[in-house]
Amino acid sequence: MKFQYLQTQSQRAAFAGIFVILLPNFFPNLFDPLGRAYPSMFSEWNAPSPEHIHLLEGALHQQISEKQQSDIWSPLPNQGWKPCLDSATIPFDSEKSQGYIQVFLDGGLNQQRMGICDAVAVAKILNATLVIPHLEVNPVWQDSSSFTDIFDVDHFIDVLKNEVSIVKEVPSKYSWSTREYYGTGIRPTRIKTAPVHASANWYLENVLPMLNSHGIAAIAPFSHRLAFDNLPKEIQLLRCKVNFEALVFVPHIRTLGDTLLQRLRTSPTTKTKGENGNGNGKFIVLHLRFDKDMAAHSACDFGGGKAEKLALAKYRQVIWQGRVVKTQFSNEELRHQGRCPLTPEEIGLSLRALGFNNDTRLYLASHKVYGGEARISTLRKMFPLMEDKKSIASEKERAQVEGKASLLAAVDYYVSMHTDIFISASPGNMHNAMLGYRAYRNMKTIRPNMVLLSQLFLNGTMEWSEFQQAVENGHKNRQGQIRLRKETQSIYTYPIPDCMCH
Ligand SMILES: *[C@@H]1O[C@H](CO)[C@@H](O)[C@H](O)[C@H]1NC(C)=O
Ligand SMILES: *[C@@H]1O[C@H](CO)[C@@H](O)[C@H](O)[C@H]1NC(C)=O
Ligand SMILES: *[C@@H]1O[C@H](CO)[C@@H](O)[C@H](O)[C@H]1NC(C)=O
Repeated sequence: MKFQYLQTQSQRAAFAGIFVILLPNFFPNLFDPLGRAYPSMFSEWNAPSPEHIHLLEGALHQQISEKQQSDIWSPLPNQGWKPCLDSATIPFDSEKSQGYIQVFLDGGLNQQRMGICDAVAVAKILNATLVIPHLEVNPVWQDSSSFTDIFDVDHFIDVLKNEVSIVKEVPSKYSWSTREYYGTGIRPTRIKTAPVHASANWYLENVLPMLNSHGIAAIAPFSHRLAFDNLPKEIQLLRCKVNFEALVFVPHIRTLGDTLLQRLRTSPTTKTKGENGNGNGKFIVLHLRFDKDMAAHSACDFGGGKAEKLALAKYRQVIWQGRVVKTQFSNEELRHQGRCPLTPEEIGLSLRALGFNNDTRLYLASHKVYGGEARISTLRKMFPLMEDKKSIASEKERAQVEGKASLLAAVDYYVSMHTDIFISASPGNMHNAMLGYRAYRNMKTIRPNMVLLSQLFLNGTMEWSEFQQAVENGHKNRQGQIRLRKETQSIYTYPIPDCMCH
């Protein structure tokens, strides 16, 4: 609540600020034939016009060859790796539990998910009993859904029952050990100092003694507190098992997800790729995280003029008190480094260049788009068969998830797990989660080459045909070809070779 209040406040403040700052320039500009001060004053709420008109024309008129189409839509060939989770199960002895482990997880749904997997691994390392993790309310997403509201808790416990002991709640003996208890004072059973990417030994040396003396240990913060390297093979396998097998969404989310999938695969025009009336048409998921928070934090310019720039700067000031290091770089520098999320228009142009036609079914996995419908109208022009939760499920069907950011994200996650092709316009947590899951299932995922695309978009004079060739060539090897995990990389993004066998 507090955050929402801040946000409206900041919007109002930004609005007032625009008046103050622009007003002195306003009248002179009126006499300038190119003066656009007045419209730009409202451009945060208005449609930013297409930024790459020279490319848009080419995109809308391009002919895509049969060969290009069949290449882009064909599933990945078998690449020789398959999950091998059950090869190293080490059963636990519930008689010998060393005590209870609690964790409090912050971040969005994807970050919490990794935290859950790490918590299971830590419980295993310590031979402890894990209490179902507590999910903190995220200041951006404002959703208080608990683990059991999102994940099927009985399935979770059941899948892991031979390897780790898990309980839904702390036993009554420790009922004092709550989130409130740790939030209101310094407590002897709290571990506050777990280093980022701590080793297994760190837990054995620092947490085990606490378990032995108190019977319980609460670890917070816990996000990213377990290393990806130098852990026993069975611990790595266990982390994958939690992520890819044990964590499934509650039934009502899966049901809604299946309804969406069924509708996406059944095209209203019966023109969807490969459809033969059985609801097996193909579609792609475009993950578009382009909310105000992300736009502001990226410190990039998104073509919305002076008003937008000021509004985002104001937002940074209010939310992060100016501590956004990227602001030391210019927009050009950030773009050259590929550090700006692609706008809806830019990802649309890239998709057309990759060979997706205007009869492609595209599901937009997205929470809030900064600028609303106006911001995605150019994308919609390129992909008229674009859908989202709202357009293909009724209000009644969505009732249980409406207004709950984590549950809405879970629905998008579910659809993304099953789509023929997944692509994200802003490689971040969701992109990484899907990269991992889809590698595990050998499914196609396009990884946008941010540096290349940014440079192409910076050019400003490039012909469509040249742009198209450059995009296509730059993405031939970025569609789900096997990539082995390198040191320090996340096992949840790159599950090969730790969790899969050749
Ligand atoms: C956990 O249990 C395993 C198997 O019983 C044992 O080898 C290991 O030493 C135990 N570790 C701890 C920290 O108790
Ligand atoms: C796709 O583009 C073609 C022209 O290239 C046009 O005739 C057709 O109506 C468009 N389809 C949709 C669904 O807009
Ligand atoms: C834009 O691309 C064209 C064609 O590749 C190239 O000749 C030109 O130098 C580029 N311009 C800039 C500013 O990079």
